[in-house]
Amino acid sequence: MRWFPRAVSSRRRGDEVLPSPNIWYYQKAYEVENRAQDVDDEIWRVLAGCRDWSGEDVLDIGCGDGFHLPRFAATARSVIGIEPHEPLVRDARNRAGELPNVEVRQGRAQRLPLPDAAFDVVHARTAYFFGPGCEPGLREAERVLRPGGTLMIVDLDVASEPYGRWMRLDLPRYDPPGVEKFFDRQGFDCRKVPTRWLFEDAAAMEAVLKIEFSAPVAEKAIAEIRRLNEVSSAAGEKRMTLPVGYRVHTRTKPTGLVVPGHSASSADASGVPSSASPRMP
Ligand SMILES: C[S@@+](CC[C@H](N)C(=O)[O-])C[C@H]1O[C@@H](n2cnc3c(N)ncnc32)[C@H](O)[C@@H]1O
Repeated sequence: MRWFPRAVSSRRRGDEVLPSPNIWYYQKAYEVENRAQDVDDEIWRVLAGCRDWSGEDVLDIGCGDGFHLPRFAATARSVIGIEPHEPLVRDARNRAGELPNVEVRQGRAQRLPLPDAAFDVVHARTAYFFGPGCEPGLREAERVLRPGGTLMIVDLDVASEPYGRWMRLDLPRYDPPGVEKFFDRQGFDCRKVPTRWLFEDAAAMEAVLKIEFSAPVAEKAIAEIRRLNEVSSAAGEKRMTLPVGYRVHTRTKPTGLVVPGHSASSADASGVPSSASPRMP
């Protein structure tokens, strides 16, 4: 994605907002992209399988213009969206409209304007948590989670075909195994989730690919997608599909004493195994 090179190159920042040119500058195309993504609900199924947030308090970090807030709000007790970019905060508030259980606040992952232990679920989708460098946000997410609460990070699988290959062309220094090791060391479980994007037509597909990749890579990707859809297009189908892989990283905050070696989530946000410093509820 085009936000990535800048995000990766500014790893030292600590407290910065990561520029997201796709949603910041091409919001209409990004809405088309969000509507095209995961049309078969594979990601939602994996998230719901990890935790049922019905009646719970949910936080969405880097919520953008709030695309995912209503979906959580349908069953959650409360949903808070956090977003640093002011115009998107406004748009997310507009999208949430009159939903009584949704609130959107301006803020960033590294300094959440929220109290300790206030959420059962913290979710972030293709926002801020991209691997090494996101430790301050991981610490904050852990702080605002209740014991037993779950952090869910959804990101594109840069090792997947073909979308990940196009990403790697724009990000030659990106290290997919290194990122996976990072989340593993931080105590996350990782699920790879194959999904399908579905565009209404070729124009929608091209508009989205052009906001995600450099011009040469977008051109290559568009040609490949056209080839992938050749047979259905020849049969008169206007819609176009694209396989896109995601990773869903999940980690549950311990509820009590952690027995050494007995918990998949036995590392705290600093990467220190929590079994080294047992916590009581
Ligand atoms: C690619 S967009 C994804 C938006 C939304 N999660 C979605 O799936 O539609 C990434 C979002 O992360 C936000 N962001 C950038 N830096 C951030 C930070 N330090 N903390 C929280 N969010 C951040 C951007 O402003 C942008 O809205």
